[in-house]
Amino acid sequence: MPAIAYVNGRYLPLRAASVNVEDRGYQFGDGIYEVLFVHRGRLVDAGLHLARLERSLEEIELHAPMSAAALHAVIGEVLRRNRIETGLVYLQITRGVARRDHPIPSPAPRPSLVITARRKPAPPARIEDWTAEAITQPDTRWGRCDIKSTNLLPNVLARTAAQRAGAYEAILYDSAGNVTEGAASTVWIVSAQGALVTRNLDRHILPGCTRAALLEALAAEGLTAEEREISLAELRAAREIFLTSATSFVKPVIRLDGAAIGNGAPGATASALFELYMHRLGAG
Ligand SMILES: Cc1ncc(COP(=O)(O)O)c(C=O)c1O
Repeated sequence: MPAIAYVNGRYLPLRAASVNVEDRGYQFGDGIYEVLFVHRGRLVDAGLHLARLERSLEEIELHAPMSAAALHAVIGEVLRRNRIETGLVYLQITRGVARRDHPIPSPAPRPSLVITARRKPAPPARIEDWTAEAITQPDTRWGRCDIKSTNLLPNVLARTAAQRAGAYEAILYDSAGNVTEGAASTVWIVSAQGALVTRNLDRHILPGCTRAALLEALAAEGLTAEEREISLAELRAAREIFLTSATSFVKPVIRLDGAAIGNGAPGATASALFELYMHRLGAG
């Protein structure tokens, strides 16, 4: 069965699916995207992801090509046509087709909407089977990382550096030597003093939906995390480091730049949050 993609109102075999070379997403990276995990046929944290999508659209002055309810229905249809129960959905909205010229065209072209999906293994049962290594890399991205923009060249280069070093993720740091986030994930630590910390939200990081879901799950247990800056020195001295994202869930980093973190195995906090998140995935 060929994979099916949704492209501007049509469901097409992935191999035949294409957009115009003058699409501004292709020419300028003038677009935004979302990635959602699907677990047993259910979109995980769909409300959070669709709200962030709406915000990204607003921030780049792009009108949604359809309502959130219609989008939800199209995602469901893409999953149905691809017979996906567990996997990921990729959704991209770009400014559409116009003669190449930098300013946002007026009148606005029709935005391009592409949705693809692919099967993924079920989430891991045990955190021990879900560990990762990370490296640190300078954050060379733009000043609006809160927008989930398709401009991902610095992320691509940082993840490539990680892969070449045999690691999963590149943890990015700014010019002041403070951690921003992973190239495609949110960074959390348990500090040497035992505090659970993740970086505060501002324009320099993406407001992770998994981050928000975990903070909500923590609050329901009467627990909190500190939301503040984390220096590279604090990161290296951390008892635990873990990453969160829609597709990495809660992923412990057991080695950073080749050095063991804690005792080189998933820590107690990462394990507890992993369980909490898996419960949320299952319980929905
Ligand atoms: C740069 C960046 N930060 C954080 C995240 C985590 O976001 P979410 O939990 O919504 O997947 C992602 C996800 O891909 C990302 O690309």
